Formats: sequence, C-alpha cells, structure tokens
Amino acid sequence: MSPCAAPRDSAMVFAADSLEVKSPSMSSTPPHTDTAVETIAILDFGSQYAQLIARRVREAGVHARLVRPDISLAELRQLSPIGLILSGGPASVYEAGAPRCDPQLFSLGIPVLGICYGMQIAVELLGGRVQPGGAGEYGPTRLTISPASGANPAAEDLFAGVPSQTSVWMSHGDQVRDWDRDFIALAATATCPLAAVAHRRAPFFGVQFHPEVTHTPYGMKILENFLYRICRASGTWRMERFLESAVDKIRRQAPTGRVLCGLSGGVDSAVTAALLHRAVGDRLINIFVDNGLLRSQERRNVEGTFRDHFHMDLRVVDAADEFLSALAGVTEPQQKRVVIGKAFIEAFKRGAADITDGRFLAQGTLYPDVIESGAGLAGATAKIKLHHNVGGLPENLGFELIEPLRDLFKDEVRRLGEVLGLPESLVWRHPFPGPGLAVRCVGEVTREKLGLLRQADGILLEEIVAAGLYRATAQVFAVLLPVRSVAVMGDGRGYNPVIALRSVDSTDFMTADWSRIPYDLLARISNRIVNEVRGVSRVVYDITSKPPGTIEWE
Ligand code: XMP
Repeated sequence: MSPCAAPRDSAMVFAADSLEVKSPSMSSTPPHTDTAVETIAILDFGSQYAQLIARRVREAGVHARLVRPDISLAELRQLSPIGLILSGGPASVYEAGAPRCDPQLFSLGIPVLGICYGMQIAVELLGGRVQPGGAGEYGPTRLTISPASGANPAAEDLFAGVPSQTSVWMSHGDQVRDWDRDFIALAATATCPLAAVAHRRAPFFGVQFHPEVTHTPYGMKILENFLYRICRASGTWRMERFLESAVDKIRRQAPTGRVLCGLSGGVDSAVTAALLHRAVGDRLINIFVDNGLLRSQERRNVEGTFRDHFHMDLRVVDAADEFLSALAGVTEPQQKRVVIGKAFIEAFKRGAADITDGRFLAQGTLYPDVIESGAGLAGATAKIKLHHNVGGLPENLGFELIEPLRDLFKDEVRRLGEVLGLPESLVWRHPFPGPGLAVRCVGEVTREKLGLLRQADGILLEEIVAAGLYRATAQVFAVLLPVRSVAVMGDGRGYNPVIALRSVDSTDFMTADWSRIPYDLLARISNRIVNEVRGVSRVVYDITSKPPGTIEWE
C-alpha cells in the first residue's frame, strides 16, 4: 500500500445521516463543458494529492478538472482535454480490484503524464510490470536524470531546465521492474531504476515521484514543462476566466426559478452568493439564520454587506430562541452539533417557506470539504457531507444543488471573492464553525455565558486586528471554560469562569501550530478582558498544536 490515501476529517461535519446528499458533479456523465477553455483532465485514483495536482495546474494558468479514473473515452472526448494526468493512489496495480483506466487512453493522441500509481498503471497497460519494491521510498530522495539521448525529443522536454541531480518527494512501495525497449528510462534513484519514463510510440510520460508537492523543488517546473512544452498549452486560464465560465454554467443549470443560498457570514457562502448574484441577479434569495450563536456584530456585518452594499435579497431568520432552548442541558460536543444541525434545517425551512418558485439551492462546498468514500475510485458513489456553515440541508427539501466552488481551494475562493469585488474584510475572514459559539462555550450553552464569550472574543479580535496580526494568523478566538477560579478584585474576592485564548497558524486547518503572539499583546488582551468583561477574572493562552489538539476545544 502506498500512503496516497484520501484524507478524512470527520470532526468537521454534522450528523452524517441528515446531511449527506448525492453530488451531481462526480457522476459518470461529465457536465457540459466549455471547450474553449484549455483543460487538463486529472484521473483521480484516490491520491491525497489529486486536488493538489489540479491546483498546481491552475496555478500554471491551465484549467484542471478531476474525473473518475474509469471515465469512458467518449466522456473524455466531450471534455476535449489538451492533456491527461493520472494521479497517484493508495492501491497496488497488481491487487485485485485496483482502480484502472481505459487502456485506449493512449490512442486519443493527447499527452498523458502518470504520477506515482498513475505512472505504474500506465506502464502496466503499455506492457511493463510492477512489483513490490522492497523497502520502498518515502520522503526526499535524490533523483538522477539521464543525459539527453535524442531518442525521443519530447522526453527531454519533461526535464528541461531541471538540474541533472535534484531532490524529489517519493511515496511508494511498489516500482516498475520490467520494461521493454518501447520505454525510455529518463531518471533513476538509488533504489528505483525507473523513476521517470517516456514511451517511444504512445504519448506517455511518467514520474514515480510527486512533482505537485512543494518538497519537490523543481516539481512545478516539471509540471509546467508537461503543460507548455508537451501539451502546448497557451496558459490563458485566470480566475477571471473561472468566473466567466462559472457564471455561464450556473445560468445553464438554473435558467429559470429562484435560487436559494444559505449565508453564514463566512467566506465560502459569501463568495457563492456574490457569484450567484452575478449569474442570476434578482432570482437569488439569501437566507441567513441568526442562531444566537454568532459573534459580536456578525449579523450587522452580513446585513450591511449583502443587503445595503450589494442590494441582494436577504432574509434573516430570527431563530436564537429555538436554538438556545434546543441546546438547554446539552453538554456533549457532537450532540450540540446534531441539535444545531436539526434546528438549522427547521429555521432554513421557515425562511424559505414563502418562496414558491425556489428550485435551486446554492452551497459553498469547496474541494477540501468534499469528503468522499474512496474519492473518485471506480464504482464508488460520490457522496458529500456538508458543513453547517455552508448550509447543511437534507436531500428531501426538493432543491437541485448548485455548488460552483466544488473544484476550488480556500485561497482560490478568496481570489475569486476579490475578483467579484467582495470587501477585503470578508474575503480574508478567519473560518468560523457552523455550530458557532456553542462549541466555544465548553459545557452547557446559556445566554449569559454566550454574552461573556462574545465580549471577550470581541476584545481579542479587536486587539489582534489593531496589532496587524489578523492576516498572519489563521484563526483566533476565545473559549469560555466551565471552570471557575479565584480572583482578588479590589478588596473583594471573585470566583469566576476562565477565558482561554486560542490563536493558530495553519494553511489547511488539518494541522496547526499555536501562534507566537507577543507577550505584551497577550498582556494587553488579558488586562482588557478581566477589566471589561464583568464575570471573567482569569485568562489563559492555549499553547497546544494540532495534532494532537484540535483547533476548536469541542
Ligand atoms: P478542528 O477543531 O477539527 O477544526 O481542528 C478544523 C477547522 O474546522 C472548523 N470546525 C468546524 N466547522 N462545523 C464547521 O463548519 C463544525 O462542526 C466544525 N468543527 C470545527 C474549525 O473552526 C477549524 O477551522
């Protein structure tokens, strides 16, 4: 087994039973495609890096689309790709049931780049043999590129501008052991004789290492060589182009009828709403559920941005009482999520009740949110689990889903938000969990505790912004602990709850480190909280990284 498995993060989803819906976009029928956009199709064999490959290709200026590995030739022709990339994957090609692709791919006449498992499956389909490679290779490995031989001029293109000795990131147990004269060995490592390969007759190139990860210093150069020297891409894809084709696609999917969008105040749903508004104008209705678990000023900011600034139809559902009474006595974190998930569905239905021609529901699902069982593997039903903050709604509400951000990463969504003209303060907002302050009020959630937490959290954020640290940190918030501690306040004795401050640095939120906030700033925040928030007399700073600690306390 190679470790290229798809990631899982079950802590980020609500009760799976009520929130799973079938995804339309990983079905075996590719949607209508704008063939004017140069596309690279990435056959996803289940690698944790498949989405990263797509992102690198987009960074290089070419549109990328992930497809199932068993996509048919007819479906591929419909996408009109200028090249194919076969991703890595966790299986071994010689195992029964290992995912395979159509062997006729190589007859389409477009260049194919196989990466890790993708190289192995291609070599096997073209007549080579893959076997367990003994100890395997994991991590940084020295690669030696063979001198150019002129045997296949295109083969040299793959490594143009790359030093003959370079470091690459390996992650494989199996390797190609047997190959015939149709294959040209382009590079090797100390233990892997075929670390890069080209074919004399088929338009195929393969690399055993991962060019898409930053640990392969010339990885981007190799991918660019494939795109520009081998696939002859023109590199015209930009976020503006994505915007145009996304607008076009939404208009085709929803030519008539109302489109509903659950706004949470976070970046993803805000960008979704702005994009939908661009595509369908006044047919968009945004529903914002005030669940009483929001941060200070949150509702006002959402109303100010979407109703007053963008002049969108925004319906606010006042549901704080319902959420708080449903949460009464609930202390277990996952149970809180379940209760909030159910209350959200009821509140959303209430907000949508008088919208008679609501046919579509737009959701800001991002690529990393798409947690699939055996992502993209042949035969697997594509399922997604939805975050509450993008509107976790069950299938039986009768809406057709529109998920225009499904192929994007967070930073790409932020870029799209900028292109759409959303204010910087919204585009660069830290993530906020769907269950809101409920999972930051450890133990039972009450109005009084929420009031303390909201105030402390407001002070913390105000100081972080004032110190210019908001963009440098990934997520900053206060947590109210169900612990009381003694304090001397004036001549009196206090016995009050404790506030924990959490600030983390992270790029993907799967791992995080606690931020090294300057002591003086911590001192100022602590002073302000104990002086200004009546009922809090002690502040602590959380210095736990993730793993093992999660970002949220609950
Ligand atoms: P953890 O606490 O799992 O959080 O390290 C990782 C990221 O996910 C957010 N988070 C959630 N978001 N619903 C959400 O929409 C949830 O139930 C939930 N739990 C955690 C968290 O704020 C962080 O950004």
